[in-house]
Amino acid sequence: MAAERERTVAVVGATGAVGEVLFRVLEERGFPAGEVRALASERSVGRRVRFAGRELEVREAVPEAFDGVDFAFFAATGSLSKDLAPEVARRGGVAIDKSSTWRLDHEVPLVVPEVNPAALEKHRGIVSCPNCTTIGFVMALEPLHRAAGVRSVVVTTLQAVSGAGKPGVEELEAQVEGLARGEAPEPATFAAPIAYNAVPLCEKFLDNGYSSEELKLLNETRKIMEMPELDVAMTCVRVPVPVGHSATMLVETERGLTPEAAREALAAFPGVEVVDDPGRDVFPTPMQVEGRDEVLVGRIRRDLGSDRLWLWQVSDNLRKGAATNAVQIAEEMIRRGLK
Ligand SMILES: NC(=O)c1ccc[n+]([C@@H]2O[C@H](COP(=O)([O-])OP(=O)(O)OC[C@H]3O[C@@H](n4cnc5c(N)ncnc54)[C@H](OP(=O)(O)O)[C@@H]3O)[C@@H](O)[C@H]2O)c1
Repeated sequence: MAAERERTVAVVGATGAVGEVLFRVLEERGFPAGEVRALASERSVGRRVRFAGRELEVREAVPEAFDGVDFAFFAATGSLSKDLAPEVARRGGVAIDKSSTWRLDHEVPLVVPEVNPAALEKHRGIVSCPNCTTIGFVMALEPLHRAAGVRSVVVTTLQAVSGAGKPGVEELEAQVEGLARGEAPEPATFAAPIAYNAVPLCEKFLDNGYSSEELKLLNETRKIMEMPELDVAMTCVRVPVPVGHSATMLVETERGLTPEAAREALAAFPGVEVVDDPGRDVFPTPMQVEGRDEVLVGRIRRDLGSDRLWLWQVSDNLRKGAATNAVQIAEEMIRRGLK
């Protein structure tokens, strides 16, 4: 990025799983941050977090904390975003929100910068960052859509415990240690034991039998890709993986698309890397994507019973699925002269 005026930045949820990674990503990418404010709940006031070799004292996230802020990254709770994101906008700053609160609001852009950056032009002080599962999904789908028009997708996700924040990671670790001592696992964050298990429920069930996470994947994808009728059939599963969401996807396109052409389209798309060599047992895994910003795609093959294509996609839910995408949004806004 060219030399830039320094921006005043706030990280809300500075003590959380995404907040920690946000500080790291801002530093790694050389974001033009001048003053940086670390905000969290009253519980964390006075704690210290590290950013770019400095120690920041955590302050409480209250409206006045956003005076003079250019970008406020929200990685806390939905209700906090609901209350405080408008306070940022009112003060002339931009709130970039990781919660689901604003994602389907017609006046709020929902953005993956590689896919729909132009949506930022219509912002009114709040920009929403999609769900961690949706981001990897649309990053793999958009190149295929541009190449051959996507008609429908069947997707099953395998989602890491860190998608439920620090409590999710701590629950997996505690259950693994408890099982080694012969203790029965006690689910709290997840609906069933997560250690050595797979749980076909992320978040909570709705009246229609789908989970809230599944509907986020459907509705957010339709909004980002501007395809309100897109046919997505989805199941979201929590698995005992610390970091890295995976998804197996069966994609139907309008025009014929060979696995070779799909591989080319995916490899040419910014932020996507093809990792696919079945002859040498090469495919992407969550362990391999942890700490990386690229969405990795492999297992690209034609369905045996139709013209559809199978693929397997993994991304780091805390980086591209959250922090990196949020920082990229701010960078894109600066590039477009929007802030
Ligand atoms: N984890 C992921 O992969 C992921 C991906 C995409 C989006 N998200 C979203 O990002 C947000 C943060 O998730 P996370 O995984 O980082 O959760 P987390 O590890 O549980 O951290 C939550 C953070 O929110 C803060 N917080 C909670 N209540 C607050 C309040 N009333 N006022 C101010 N701060 C408050 C906490 O501060 P204290 O320490 O003071 O309690 C903590 O810093 C959520 O909206 C989540 O849905 C997460």
